[in-house]
Amino acid sequence: VSYFALIPAAGVGARMGAAGPKQYLPLAGKPMLRHTLQAFLDCAAIAHVYVVVSAADGYIDDVVADCGKRVTVLRCGGATRMESIRNGLRALDAHGEDRILVHDAARPGLTPALIDKLIGEAGANPAGGLLALRVVDTVKSTRTGRVETTPRDGLWLAQTPQMFPYELLLRALEQAPDPEAITDDASAVEMLGLSPQLVEGHPRNLKVTLPADVGIATLYLTHEHL
Ligand code: C5P
Repeated sequence: VSYFALIPAAGVGARMGAAGPKQYLPLAGKPMLRHTLQAFLDCAAIAHVYVVVSAADGYIDDVVADCGKRVTVLRCGGATRMESIRNGLRALDAHGEDRILVHDAARPGLTPALIDKLIGEAGANPAGGLLALRVVDTVKSTRTGRVETTPRDGLWLAQTPQMFPYELLLRALEQAPDPEAITDDASAVEMLGLSPQLVEGHPRNLKVTLPADVGIATLYLTHEHL
């Protein structure tokens, strides 16, 4: 069994309001995606890294220029994150039981230690596993039209990487009844009746979504001990 990273990086980052796609925003002197790639390159357990970008992407070649032979660019990005991942899975070279670690380009604070932790704790789990954070705030819901409090114990925030056997993940994404309702890969696997394992992640692995996140991510990238 080999471990492969698959990084969807075909988004446009509309919520960031920046000029270009957010995966290429400079953070601590390097494009965001370059930091993300380095975490996997520094992890000996990862056999190969695949990056999915859109066919028209004009930045990626510069970003991977010094990454060496362990990185392959797949120009098969789709209209949604799920589509980009599905296209990437079909294009890459893996076998049924190989583990695919899907990780957002927009989470540059990932470390090799977190990747090793995920593989160490959930690598043998046939349902896969993902990094996640326990909810620390009190959670309010307005779903019913009234304000209600949902007990936070037992609630988690999903991060990436999310790791699954290749064949399982491909089947889950191909059979997903409502691709619009799937906001992460684990939910597609859950729809098959399986229960992916949660592995405690770290706040430094935040997803850079809003302008203020750039400052927080930069702080983590320049302070390894945080
Ligand atoms: O927009 P959001 O932060 O949810 O995107 C998560 C990840 O999915 C990003 O790395 C983004 O580049 C990627 N993505 C993609 N293809 C799309 C949309 C998003 O690869 N069509």
